[in-house]
Amino acid sequence: MSTLTTPTTWTFEAFTAAVGDAVQAPSIHNSQPWRFRWTSDGAYVLLDERRRLAVCDADGRMARISCGAAAYNLRLGLAVSGLPARHRLVSGGALLYLWPAQPRPPTPMERRLHWQISRRHTNRGPFADTPVGPGLPQQLADAARREGGWLDFVAGERALTTLAELIRIADAELRANSAYAAELRAWTICANHAVEGIGPDACGAAPHPAEIMTRRDYGGPGRGVTRDLSRHPAVAVLGALGDGPDEAIRVGMALQCVLLTAADLGLATAMYSQPIEVPATREQIRRAIDRIHDPHLVLRFGYAPTTCYTNRRPVTDVIDA
Ligand SMILES: Cc1cc2nc3c(=O)[nH]c(=O)nc-3n(C[C@H](O)[C@H](O)[C@H](O)COP(=O)(O)O)c2cc1C
Repeated sequence: MSTLTTPTTWTFEAFTAAVGDAVQAPSIHNSQPWRFRWTSDGAYVLLDERRRLAVCDADGRMARISCGAAAYNLRLGLAVSGLPARHRLVSGGALLYLWPAQPRPPTPMERRLHWQISRRHTNRGPFADTPVGPGLPQQLADAARREGGWLDFVAGERALTTLAELIRIADAELRANSAYAAELRAWTICANHAVEGIGPDACGAAPHPAEIMTRRDYGGPGRGVTRDLSRHPAVAVLGALGDGPDEAIRVGMALQCVLLTAADLGLATAMYSQPIEVPATREQIRRAIDRIHDPHLVLRFGYAPTTCYTNRRPVTDVIDA
């Protein structure tokens, strides 16, 4: 009689390779607020409190979303290794615990999304004035739903104007705070761009006052024609079916599933978290989109050439021995 031997956990090599995928996730100001721990029977994703942004992310929401995005990549990396993960949210110091499911070959979708991990990037360049293809918003909303999130596209000129105005108000409020400006400088001009933060090429040009969607000003140069050409941007609000710190991790996993799906569909993406960082505008967005639960991020989709990639710390810096 033959016995089937089911691997009980990932090898350290397979885990390290998947962490290599995880660290390519987006994070607020490219702060990479994550750590990963490998144990004899599973793995943990942890929040690195030392890398949480004290001013613009006092409650840790943005750091948790970032960790959730990294966790999604970790899961994809493990899935393509042939030993996918099951996971559950945990309380205490860790955010997520993962343990091996039955070995199986990766699905075509897992392969495609995994391939996009190193290709996806945040695009702060101008988007073309080409409407997002029909059916694509639905595919993106489905991607969010698969991970327990929701993605509401903003329909109509009036709703878009309202959201754009809330982003503008929040951005102005943040910029008026000198501690916010100092924190932003620390993660842009003053950061070690070889491993973290947002370097001059990734900052995008200085935001043009006539742009519909107010980009965060990362101190980029105001060079040439910087105005966004798109008159009808495809904009959506991302959230999950609950509030509290746990939900932000779920939102992060939904975010990364949406971003990789967008990349797979040939779409560029941009993020706007200023109106979420300001409680009053966050609440106004919640009411405007008629949701019970908090919105967590505003996303924009469209067509634009590749701009610039940011760097990451080596995996050895983020794995707990
Ligand atoms: C929670 C969260 C909030 C973010 N907020 C913004 C934002 O307001 N404006 C922006 O341009 N990018 C934003 N980003 C994108 C990050 O700056 C970006 O992911 C990081 O610099 C790494 O670059 P990459 O996405 O190109 O890999 C955000 C990302 C996350 C995960």
